[in-house]
Amino acid sequence: MELNEVRKRYLDYMRDRGHSVLASAPLVPREDSTTLFTGSGMQPLVPYLLGKEHPKGTRLANAQKCFRANDIDEVGDNRHTTFFEMLGNWSLGSYFKKEQIEQCFLFLTDPNSGLGLNPERLYVSVFAGDKLLNIPRDEESAEVWRQLFTSAGVTAETAHIGSKENGDRRGIKNGERIFFYDADENWWSRSGSPDTMPVGEPGGPDTEVFYDFGDSAADPAYADMKPHPASDSGRFVEIGNSVFMQHIRTKNGFTQLPKKNVDFGGGLERLVAATEDTADIFRIDAFASCISALAERSGIAYDTRPRPFRIVADHLRAAMFIAADGVSPSNTDQGYVLRRLVRSAVYNVQYGLGIADLPLTVLVPSMVSMYADRYPEIAEERVVQTIGDEEERFITTLQKGTKVFDAIAKKGAITGEEMFTLQSTYGFPKELTISLAREKHVSVSSDGYVSAMHRHRESSRQASERKFKGGLADASDMSVKYHTATHLLHQALRDVLGNTVEQRGSNITPERLRFDFSYDRKLTDEEKKQVETVVNDKIQEGLEVRCMDMPLEEARRLGAIGTFEYGDTVRVYCIGEYSKEFCGGPHVGNTADLGSFRITKEESVAAGIRRIKAVLE
Ligand code: SER
Repeated sequence: MELNEVRKRYLDYMRDRGHSVLASAPLVPREDSTTLFTGSGMQPLVPYLLGKEHPKGTRLANAQKCFRANDIDEVGDNRHTTFFEMLGNWSLGSYFKKEQIEQCFLFLTDPNSGLGLNPERLYVSVFAGDKLLNIPRDEESAEVWRQLFTSAGVTAETAHIGSKENGDRRGIKNGERIFFYDADENWWSRSGSPDTMPVGEPGGPDTEVFYDFGDSAADPAYADMKPHPASDSGRFVEIGNSVFMQHIRTKNGFTQLPKKNVDFGGGLERLVAATEDTADIFRIDAFASCISALAERSGIAYDTRPRPFRIVADHLRAAMFIAADGVSPSNTDQGYVLRRLVRSAVYNVQYGLGIADLPLTVLVPSMVSMYADRYPEIAEERVVQTIGDEEERFITTLQKGTKVFDAIAKKGAITGEEMFTLQSTYGFPKELTISLAREKHVSVSSDGYVSAMHRHRESSRQASERKFKGGLADASDMSVKYHTATHLLHQALRDVLGNTVEQRGSNITPERLRFDFSYDRKLTDEEKKQVETVVNDKIQEGLEVRCMDMPLEEARRLGAIGTFEYGDTVRVYCIGEYSKEFCGGPHVGNTADLGSFRITKEESVAAGIRRIKAVLE
């Protein structure tokens, strides 16, 4: 089946079962700034899973655009993508285990209203229970699965595996189909297993469905056996996950949510791959025209070297969706991810496939035609513009980097440290250094690369802690005043320019403040005036500045802005009722102390990022 067909069947099926079909939330969350991207269908629904009433009722479904940055380095095998759509359905206290498992099974196996997958090819996992959490083994789900398989004429015995690692060499015995696993495998929350969940986070045991792609899909290390479904063999791919979301993390353990919810998610691309019976997700129609264009231009057959094809197809699609959500390439946050995707796609076209003259933008229309009906934002001019501009910047970088490379290579050897500098300072990828060195018969050593990377990470971590966890570089009276003025400015910019404004950097000296924020164009004189007026009004109102430590959930409810660590308790500074921001301080006690605020400069620092300098007089 085609991608658009599978999505349509699912949403129709859920609509017929009384679900309201919701539009996809944006890929870049507007409300919940704890994550850079929406990574699962449930994320935009968290408040409702926690108990808030949803205006569309208690049965919901959708196809959600998702992006998982953690998977960038995994892309290249047959099943990982960074961007994907998640088909989801939710019961907010309406139905629970039995109905969910039944409708899931029927959707997967029914040829008329569902996907018509052969039930012989489906295997399932169920939660084995946890003594410490005091949550028992999920016998109920196992029994529902057993009955469903049996009535479809498929033997379905249960088996206990426990932890995935312990069971790695435990093969499937005759008739086994329902596998019990520990919390590592069969418990779902946004932050993983129960012990890693922050207070206030919802989660629960889950039951997953796997599709068996057969012997040929398995890693050769598993050739001598039929591995169990959650093993890393590659033979089985998870195509759906029903989470029974009825628990919430508290300080001392867990308690029940007000309702017993269901949160189902199934990766659309993987479901399509199952209908096509191909273990290679990149063989589905969504990637076909991109991959065939690359094969034609490179003269390389996809099968002989699939990795670069997969990286280009995945990264281009992801980059388009991220750009369509209004992100511009930069060196921080979402902008950095976008930059990495575009650059790695360009690199793989040029060096992975050896095509010198194929701009990514030529590949854009094939993706647009695949998705524009459902996601019209992808067809907007700025998508192609953003990708084309970044591609050009990268090509310039590569040219500059090549000069630096040549200068270093003259010595006849490249150290790991130099390889790292080429990458971090000149944007020159490590793989490129290695392959050019080989070409030019220059020796290259990785020694020192990793330690240089750690040093770099450590210093940027310290820098960002200094930036976000308060602690001004100097705590002179003037710097403290500028710090409070920065919070006022941040909120005033959002008031005047809208909530797409987010802090991208801040630097304070006793002489001035400097504030970087996301915004895609120059401010007009009128806008600058308005911002100044708002800040000065708030100064004159003599607002009290208060510091409060509170649970993250509560801070979110208050609508606190800014960047923070995902922890139990967070610190928020409130300026009257006007500004609420995550921050470590210090601040003045009352805005009346600040004097008069004036913007001295407004300029661009990077694509999509503006910088304001301002003084207090
Ligand atoms: N939230 C669950 C997952 O991402 C099911 O939707 O797997």
